[in-house]
Amino acid sequence: MTKDSKQQLSLPTIILHWLIAVVFIYLLITEMSQPNLHKSLGSIVLIFVLIRIIWRLQNGWLQPVCRYKKREHQLAKATHWILIIGTLLLPITGLFISIAGGHGLSIFGLNVVAENIDPINTHNRLALNQSLANVGNFSHKILANIMVITVLLHIAGALKHHFIDRDKTLSRMLGKFTNKI
Ligand code: HEM
Ligand code: HEM
Repeated sequence: MTKDSKQQLSLPTIILHWLIAVVFIYLLITEMSQPNLHKSLGSIVLIFVLIRIIWRLQNGWLQPVCRYKKREHQLAKATHWILIIGTLLLPITGLFISIAGGHGLSIFGLNVVAENIDPINTHNRLALNQSLANVGNFSHKILANIMVITVLLHIAGALKHHFIDRDKTLSRMLGKFTNKI
């Protein structure tokens, strides 16, 4: 498979970027307005996140389309790291809340992990591991807030490259071949 180059990004990079971006923006905006959809989409996107991380490890990070100030390059790098780590930890901490909390996991109606129903009061769910569920809950919310800020910064950066610097950073992520800056 062709790898990412300065001139053109590979199909896996482009497809995984936009697929994961759409799901994350949707889940960050809608929060838990539809819990079943939230948990199902959030769990499935984890598979694509893992594929992307393997792909990134094999390919390395993207090369910038042209030379920028060192500061700008460092900011982009830090942003990409936070985004990649955030896309991994958000679904994992979400799974902690549900599974460790005893709520089970069903993905689009398919029961993957059973609920842990309290035999004394069947409306209740008993946590499998309360501290793990608490850690999950706490970090899921913090990570969601960090991601909102980072995604906004990231989008602002992409728009700056496109409209102010007028370089090919965004066009390249949209699949275009760039032979010059
Ligand atoms: C409208 C929304 C978005 C736009 C316009 C956008 C644009 C871009 C562009 C142009 C690049 C390439 C940067 C470069 O060449 O150095 C990029 C890379 C990246 N973006 Fe986005 N992005 C968006 C949303 C997101 C979201 C929501 C996430 C994470 C949840 C994300 C995560 C990443 C990551 C991790 C990279 C580094 C390259 C990679 O691993 O694929 N982006 N983005
Ligand atoms: C993968 C991307 C995900 C994103 C972007 C995301 C985002 C969010 C956001 C923004 C909230 C609201 C946080 C707040 O109240 O401040 C939330 C809450 C929640 N999420 Fe996720 N989530 C994701 C995955 C998951 C998964 C996979 C699960 C479980 C299987 C899950 C379970 C929950 C639960 C149970 C809450 C409610 C927490 C509470 O208010 O007690 N999430 N999520």
